[in-house]
Amino acid sequence: MNNKIAVLAGDGIGPEVVEQALKVMKAIERKYDLNFEYTPALVGAVAIDETGNPYPDATHEICMHSDAVLFGAIGDPKYDNNPSAKVRPEQGLLAMRKKLGLYANIRPISAFKSLINNSPLKTDLIEGVDLMVLRELTGGIYFGEPRGRSEDGNTAFDTCTYQRYEVERIGRLAFEYARKRRKKLAAVDKANILATSRLWRETIQQLHSEYPDVELEFMFVDNAAMQLVTWPQKFDVIVTENMFGDILTDEASVITGSLGLLPSASVGIYTSVFEPIHGSYPQAAGRNIANPLGTILSAALMFEYALNLPHAGQIIRKACEQSIEQGIVTTDIAVGENFYSTSEVGDWIAKAIE
Ligand code: IPM
Ligand code: MN
Repeated sequence: MNNKIAVLAGDGIGPEVVEQALKVMKAIERKYDLNFEYTPALVGAVAIDETGNPYPDATHEICMHSDAVLFGAIGDPKYDNNPSAKVRPEQGLLAMRKKLGLYANIRPISAFKSLINNSPLKTDLIEGVDLMVLRELTGGIYFGEPRGRSEDGNTAFDTCTYQRYEVERIGRLAFEYARKRRKKLAAVDKANILATSRLWRETIQQLHSEYPDVELEFMFVDNAAMQLVTWPQKFDVIVTENMFGDILTDEASVITGSLGLLPSASVGIYTSVFEPIHGSYPQAAGRNIANPLGTILSAALMFEYALNLPHAGQIIRKACEQSIEQGIVTTDIAVGENFYSTSEVGDWIAKAIE
């Protein structure tokens, strides 16, 4: 097998965490006698600096001709407090999601046993948590038109739009995943206020007749936000629109004890993208301190969701668990002063796999 992997390391800590995931993927290649072809491509602030475009056409071509995309992070502080910047790195991420048709962002959340004391939540609340958030990724207020400012600059507006087919395709995926898991689906919306949410509710309700074996619960997003930290064990699969999913998954990351641990898979029409949910963490860039596990676990998802090697995914996850159990961890999840660098953690996990 000769899989093609596009490598979009991006900004901030992106390159250093991606490097660790590549070590791990190469260890898997040797173990399984595979031969992957890696093609680096520009995205984010580095792409703006070099080409003026945060998601250049050349990068899109590489992604389209690959079997999977490994993505690091994008974002640069030089854009954050500069509201007049015409082009921003985040636009590259949104353009990539849209052009690759990545309508579903899968964010699995579970508590590592040996890290259970790292969470600010009480241990008995998070023991055994195993949930998956399916976040719609190419619609809603992130993309709706019109958006902008009135001429006098005193009014600003964004538009939240959803079409039935957009809800249907992610709704179907959510029922399918629930069916393979504990058969519980929570559909999160704000149907007491938003017209788009009422379309979501109606559509998901109709789909339910095709999946009668799945228990469906509708929840308002404010209530879901509260229940995620007061009773996370109750959730199996959560499906929700773009912005609610963005917010709820950052919130859910506190269950695991560190945002640096969470991987994600974005799937849809064209090539799937695998990326940690943390951002570019510019304060840590180049310091070899960032946690590489979110990216390494994203590579595990790549083997499962895109490369049809679920066993390799399990091996990576196991090696990550071992690294945590043995205390080979970065400072964000270390106890006291006993911590390792980004590259040491990557080396250890790659070696454990071999
Ligand atoms: C995420 C990020 C992005 C989002 C930003 C960087 C545009 O927060 O992937 O969750 O809001 O989708
Ligand atoms: Mn986010």
